Amino acid sequence: MSGNTPPVARIGADWYPLEAYGELAVGISEVLIPAEEIHKRVLTIGRSISDDYAGLEPLLVGVLKGVVPFVADLLRAITIPLELDFMAVASYSAEARDQGVVRLEKDLSLPITGRHVLFVEDIIDTGLTLNYLLRNLRVREPASLDVCVLFDRPDRRLIDIPIRYKGFDLPDRLVVGYGLDYRGRYRNLPFVGQLKPEVFRNGLERV
Ligand code: PRP
Repeated sequence: MSGNTPPVARIGADWYPLEAYGELAVGISEVLIPAEEIHKRVLTIGRSISDDYAGLEPLLVGVLKGVVPFVADLLRAITIPLELDFMAVASYSAEARDQGVVRLEKDLSLPITGRHVLFVEDIIDTGLTLNYLLRNLRVREPASLDVCVLFDRPDRRLIDIPIRYKGFDLPDRLVVGYGLDYRGRYRNLPFVGQLKPEVFRNGLERV
């Protein structure tokens, strides 16, 4: 991308053009969801959660690492008392992951029995990770357990997961930004962009 491209991100009072992201911007072929659009959608979801969970003091549970930008913004868009906790998972192998088997690297630090738990994810693809984690949490007997996902790639779904709050549908393409990474990079882009094919060497790898 070059020249006078329109701003794609507002950081505080400043508007940043795509070029401000230097070598990260070079890997992006197209901005799919500008930062402002994400910001507006997160505010709307936050308002709905504030209304729906009023008086319930929900426990938001995020899955590291991709959820960090979303959950940080979502928290501040919710106006009722809440608590926050995190889990981290790692797959044993690509094959194990395809079978929905994940390893819990970090469990919750808070008990959830009797709590209203809202599970927050950056993205849902196959649904296998979420399905595994929801089963894991259900046995702890929360008062309720619902799902809030910012990005959904329904074309990749293998298991149907009921989603209470959803931000955007994404095409089945290699996208990065706002938490979504490629080999650990690009999470810090405040927008969602499509990765240029030349950035990844071995064809259609999973992002
Ligand atoms: C992403 C996302 C979910 C999972 C969804 O995590 O945060 O946990 O993939 O995929 P699924 O629906 O096919 O199971 P990722 O493994 O990319 O880790 P990260 O959050 O650390 O980037």
